[in-house]
Amino acid sequence: MLRHRQWLLKSRPEGALSLGDFEFREQHIPDPELAPGQILVQNLMFSCAATMRNWMNAPGRSHRSIDLGTPMLGPGGSQVVKSNHARFPVGTRVTLLAPWEDYSVLEPDTSPTPITALPSEVKLTEALGIYSLNSCTAYFGLLEVGQPKVGETVVVSAAAGSVGSMVVQIAKIVGCRVIGVAGGRDKCDLVVEHLGADAAIDYKHEDVGARLRELCPKGVDVYFDNVGGDILAAVMDNIAVKGRIAVCGQVASYDSGAPAPGLRDMMRVIYRSVTVRGFVMDEFMQDVDTARADMKRWVAEGRLRHHEDIRTGFENLPHAFMALFNGESRGTVIVESGEPAEG
Ligand SMILES: NC(=O)c1ccc[n+]([C@@H]2O[C@H](COP(=O)([O-])OP(=O)(O)OC[C@H]3O[C@@H](n4cnc5c(N)ncnc54)[C@H](OP(=O)(O)O)[C@@H]3O)[C@@H](O)[C@H]2O)c1
Repeated sequence: MLRHRQWLLKSRPEGALSLGDFEFREQHIPDPELAPGQILVQNLMFSCAATMRNWMNAPGRSHRSIDLGTPMLGPGGSQVVKSNHARFPVGTRVTLLAPWEDYSVLEPDTSPTPITALPSEVKLTEALGIYSLNSCTAYFGLLEVGQPKVGETVVVSAAAGSVGSMVVQIAKIVGCRVIGVAGGRDKCDLVVEHLGADAAIDYKHEDVGARLRELCPKGVDVYFDNVGGDILAAVMDNIAVKGRIAVCGQVASYDSGAPAPGLRDMMRVIYRSVTVRGFVMDEFMQDVDTARADMKRWVAEGRLRHHEDIRTGFENLPHAFMALFNGESRGTVIVESGEPAEG
């Protein structure tokens, strides 16, 4: 028998997330029989991504919706413990969209989301951290969508977060001046001292519009928008002629039941010839190897580093996820499951 723990979606959150939206279940299950092409994985690590908050909503409000009473889903790192698939022998480590549970039976050839075997030299924390799809989102969103040029000013919101912290560093690597926006003095210090931004704005205690006027007298050339809302409005008031806005996420609205508000003055888009472009990482999937190769080189050169906020214990998953919305998290939140004891 296997000790099998799960975190299920109990209710669709109304407003801010609460622990009551999740239900913990623990069972002892028989070792599953596998059909041809199936594998049994033990899910060892889970990373928490802000987008998962949208997946908790009813169908139709984002591109994915988790059914009530089924396990939460998020990026994970797992190990094959039983196999009926030649390319995934026992011991293979994989990244996947993992259900929040100890064990999952998967069918790699028909899975709607990729199950990717990891090369032996890549650690699970690296696969879920520095070389994750969040980092690739930063890479493509900045370089392909934002199109920054040497000497331009880039502003990034949620700058101490998983995507934002990589945007700050990549924008510096390609020769831009970078202003990060984050909540609280601690995070702003991390953005400047650890990530190398030229300045940071504490949106919880400072007037973002006034600080942008002071820091960007010639305007903001590229805005990497992770949050939307009031910060987007303040950047829009300070956007440069031919400015570009890469719309990556709208986290300021994720806890509200309402759609994310749009720009308040479209005339500014016209008179300043601004490009506003939303994107999803999926559109760049064919080029992720190029992104990872560049990031690997930057890491080797000491120009790119990653902040992992590693927490322990499967039972702490909801709490760790909620840290993305209450200001507690830094960089990428990764939860190490801890070994489930055999029953
Ligand atoms: N387009 C895509 O394909 C794609 C892919 C991945 C992620 N994303 C988006 O990228 C963004 C960042 O995701 P992530 O996983 O890296 O999360 P994250 O930035 O590590 O965590 C979310 C951050 O949002 C900030 N935040 C939370 N509530 C806020 C509010 N009300 N107003 C302003 N800031 C708030 C918090 O930072 P502070 O403490 O500084 O407020 C928190 O650190 C999200 O919008 C996500 O949806 C998009």
